[in-house]
This record gives sequence, structure tokens and C-alpha cells, in this order.
Amino acid sequence: MILVTLIACLLLTVGEALPQNPSGRYCEHTATSRNCWGEYDVDTDYSEVFPNTGVVREYWLTAQNTTLAPDGYERPMLVFNGTFPGPTIEAEWGDTLVIHVKNDMQHNG
Ligand SMILES: *[C@@H]1O[C@H](CO)[C@@H](O)[C@H](O)[C@H]1NC(C)=O
Ligand SMILES: *[C@@H]1O[C@H](CO)[C@@H](O)[C@H](O)[C@H]1NC(C)=O
Repeated sequence: MILVTLIACLLLTVGEALPQNPSGRYCEHTATSRNCWGEYDVDTDYSEVFPNTGVVREYWLTAQNTTLAPDGYERPMLVFNGTFPGPTIEAEWGDTLVIHVKNDMQHNG
């Protein structure tokens, strides 16, 4: 039991000394290890692990039923802010998006 605790303490000490990526592996970006960068590597699940930039980007969109002719032929279209394609939403990895959607449709099903 004491040996296991000692090994665990030793591993923790070594782990603290080396930079680790969120998956817990030590990986340094060098000419021979291009598969990692900073705190991340090719095995990082980017849908679960992401930086927190602290930036909140807020957008207001209005869903509308209008007539447009994107290909030269007029047709009814359901669009955001009356344009097709809709407004560009820009953000960086780790930003928080707050999107306010106003429904201006005549018929809501
Ligand atoms: C969409 O339209 C609303 C007004 O209807 C405007 O306040 C808003 O800024 C527009 N959003 C974008 C992303 O252009
Ligand atoms: C969009 O407009 C058309 C033509 O006025 C109408 O037939 C259709 O029900 C509308 N759709 C919505 C979702 O409001």
C-alpha cells in the first residue's frame, strides 16, 4: 500500500514538472513531433476540450418569410435578416455565442 502511494506521489510530481495537454499526455511540439501544439494534440476531442477565451459574441437575427431571387428566379424563402445567405456569424474557437432569434413568420407551425 505504501509502495503504491509512493509511486502515485512520484508520478504526480513528474506530471507537475512536465507540461501536459488536457488529455493528460506530455507532448512537445518539435520537428519530429508535429502532432501536438501547445496544450493540444491530434487526439484531442475538440468538441469536448476547448479554451475559454472569455469573449462573448452576441448576434440578433430575425427569421423572415420573403421573396428573393438568388438564382434569378423569384421564389418564397425563409431566411435570416432578409438575405440569402444570411448574415455571417464570426467567432473564434472557445468564444461563447449568444444568438437572439426573433420570429417574424406569418405562420408558425
Ligand atoms: C439582423 O437584423 C436586425 C434588425 O432586424 C439587426 O438589429 C441585426 O444587427 C441584424 N443582424 C446581423 C447579424 O446583421
Ligand atoms: C410564407 O409566405 C407564403 C406566401 O405568402 C405563405 O404561403 C407561407 O405560408 C409563409 N410561410 C411561413 C412559414 O410563414
